[in-house]
Amino acid sequence: MCGVFGYVTNRDEALGPILVEAARRLTYRGYDSVGAATFRDGAIDLRKDVGKVDAVAERHGLREMRGSRGIAQLRWATFGEPSQVNAQPHLDSSGRMCGAHNGNVVNNVELMAEFAAEGMTVRSQNDGESCVHAVERYVRRGEAPIDAIRHAYDDLEGDYAFVIGQAADDRLYAFKKGSGLVVGIGDGFTCVSSDLPSILPLTRRVVRLRDGEIVTLWADRVEVRSVADGSLVDRPVEQVTESMDAAQKGGYPHFMAKEIHEQPQVARELLHLLDASADLAPMLERLRDARNLYFIACGTSYHAAMLGSVYLAQLAGRVAIPVLAPQFIAQYAPAVGPGDVGVFVSQSGETKDVLNALEAAERRGMASFGLANVVGSALTRATSLCLPLGCGFEISVPATKTFTNQVIAFLYLAYRLAGRDTAALARVPELMEATIESVAGQVEALAAALADRDDLYCLGYGATYPIALEGALKLKEVTYAHCEGMLSTEFKHGPLSAVSAGYPIIFAAGPDDVPLIISGINEVKVRGARTITIAQEDARLRANGDDLVVLPSADPQVSALLAVIPLQLLAYHISVRRGFDPDFPRNLSKTLTVD
Ligand code: G6P
Repeated sequence: MCGVFGYVTNRDEALGPILVEAARRLTYRGYDSVGAATFRDGAIDLRKDVGKVDAVAERHGLREMRGSRGIAQLRWATFGEPSQVNAQPHLDSSGRMCGAHNGNVVNNVELMAEFAAEGMTVRSQNDGESCVHAVERYVRRGEAPIDAIRHAYDDLEGDYAFVIGQAADDRLYAFKKGSGLVVGIGDGFTCVSSDLPSILPLTRRVVRLRDGEIVTLWADRVEVRSVADGSLVDRPVEQVTESMDAAQKGGYPHFMAKEIHEQPQVARELLHLLDASADLAPMLERLRDARNLYFIACGTSYHAAMLGSVYLAQLAGRVAIPVLAPQFIAQYAPAVGPGDVGVFVSQSGETKDVLNALEAAERRGMASFGLANVVGSALTRATSLCLPLGCGFEISVPATKTFTNQVIAFLYLAYRLAGRDTAALARVPELMEATIESVAGQVEALAAALADRDDLYCLGYGATYPIALEGALKLKEVTYAHCEGMLSTEFKHGPLSAVSAGYPIIFAAGPDDVPLIISGINEVKVRGARTITIAQEDARLRANGDDLVVLPSADPQVSALLAVIPLQLLAYHISVRRGFDPDFPRNLSKTLTVD
């Protein structure tokens, strides 16, 4: 989840400190590379590199840069490894135009080949460069910049926002397609940014762009036009009252809440990314032909691997063994060899337990692939084929959006292996949105009722079994209560003895499992338990249990994915009610790089 910032004045200014400060204020979004470009006397000064803002600023003298217009960018790698050449901004072939983006252009690989064939100078693998050449293509054909940008917009597929300027000019242009972009209007300057925190220290007067809109920024005014026909859009200037902290959290009190609410958007972006991934077809081929197939991970990623295994079996008739990474070493590594395939799943791509398992697998000649959120991480570097998760930076220690995107990636793989049309998955983000909206109030009330309980169970069956484990993990992580996740049918084989009056037991039920879940509900209810069921609307569940949290109608696989959302929200609200900080639970670390 990169960040881009542009600034326009009409005098020669020390822009370096402004650009560096803007970049620093976008660092909460996560990044691996930093760059800045200034436009001065018809020339472009471009400096960029891999590393932290202060280190790159120091190394390349970013603070000394001058000009009347500038662009700063923080890059979070998706297309192309983190490297100086892939860092942004990028120049066009002649070095007379410069731009940077935030987001993903999913047809980047195809476009780069076209640009090279058309005689343009392609320097990197990065999709930000595609944006620049996409404009260059039409400028070369003699179009005015605004028209060239409008046409480039149509050629660039994906979710992104883009800022570009020409050396011999007095303005910057920016447009928005799926990613955030806000314009700031100050005294003698204008600016544009992926997010408010880099604008608020400069001005509180903003214009929020919508998808399909281009803004032209001059020092003293801005003009918003529609991409479709170039017509002027009348958009009022807003006065922002949010604090900086609230702005970073997108107006939510915690990053965990923000990241839960971001899930539909990153899911949508992931589906676009997977459609365009060059690694997908070769990976599918190897998964199809594998002798034994393992999904290897830890923590939350392991629960996604478990659900992935359910999906592959249920939809594609393919067996995959989900296994915790250290147990893979002890149990399966001695038995694996060439012909076997492992998919290593990790948000960070740096979990030591996962990397140890990868090493053990490779020693035995097993083909190893990755599913990781951080491109450029050890896992993505060590695996020959790796699918991105496209979630951007996940700040909150408890994983939420990376879990749902891991699950969606597995669902996508299962669809492809089953020969199903993945276009049907386009509904999933909408269903996630509907779930967040419909359960929010009820889950908050449940959190109030359950906040003082120190023991809970979370039970599921089939596709909802991994969801029960994940829900229990979320509750444990952020509420510090004891919450156990379990296969619902196992509860009677022991834990039932713990049940007493008011004991909270949460069931996640798939649409085909209602009769079985009803037995489970009654077993515990007659012993005094309070049951909370997360399922699609069903009169039988209402009649037998206490609370029913209703999910939108969906097939059993998607329904399981949706069921995690109320559990994430429940964990979050209980944590806050108990007075804890859900973003940084005690004793836990986001990335465990130790054994
Ligand atoms: C740590 C984190 C968990 C995470 C696990 C695996 O324990 O606290 O939230 O699920 O590591 O992390 P990975 O980055 O490999 O997905």
